[in-house]
Amino acid sequence: MKYLIANWKAQMILAETTQWLNVFYRLISADEILKKKLKNELSLVICPPAPFIVYVGDHLNNVNIKVGSQNISSMNRGKFTGEITAEALKDICDYAIIGHSERRSEFNESEETIALKLTQASQHGLKTIHCVRNYSDKRYDLADMVAYEPVEAIGTGANADINTIVQMKSKLNISHQTPFLYGGSVDSKNISHYLDTDKIDGFLVGTASLDPQEFYLMATKMI
Ligand code: PGA
Repeated sequence: MKYLIANWKAQMILAETTQWLNVFYRLISADEILKKKLKNELSLVICPPAPFIVYVGDHLNNVNIKVGSQNISSMNRGKFTGEITAEALKDICDYAIIGHSERRSEFNESEETIALKLTQASQHGLKTIHCVRNYSDKRYDLADMVAYEPVEAIGTGANADINTIVQMKSKLNISHQTPFLYGGSVDSKNISHYLDTDKIDGFLVGTASLDPQEFYLMATKMI
């Protein structure tokens, strides 16, 4: 199974989400080959801003596209104003991104917090996409997938080369069973290059996922 995961970050409002869905749904619905692959060969996951998870999920459910959360609370249900728990998310989405470098740098997310979030997600059955910036970030057996995202490659156009990514996979000691994703300036022009190896199972995509045509094109290159 290959994975193409969109991380919209905090970059979409409702009207833009509606527009994105209209364009993307039209493209997917007309593509019989891609629709078939979405059943068992390619997993497409959209991680919108939290207020739109249900909306996006409802729109894409019948074409086998899943939704995920970009973050979850480290807390159990309780009196924690503003928090979004894994228990609340589990009924509206399947995946959770945990430990993204922007959460580490902008919101001071520590390894301790990341470990708690992974535990919450796994207790409530959310599949986790654990982001690591390099081999000094901690690895957790609890994580379902690992996304290697070097900070210097995120949103810069300076995408990492394939050898660096493959080397990182072995330094990170990732087992064969754990899907290993790369993220950092992946787009429709450079995605095919990464498919030359069977060591990369998919991609976490920020900027290029904001354009539905571009994201669709990326999906078609993965099949
Ligand atoms: P990018 O972001 O595709 O814009 O580099 C990737 C990410 O932050 O997950």
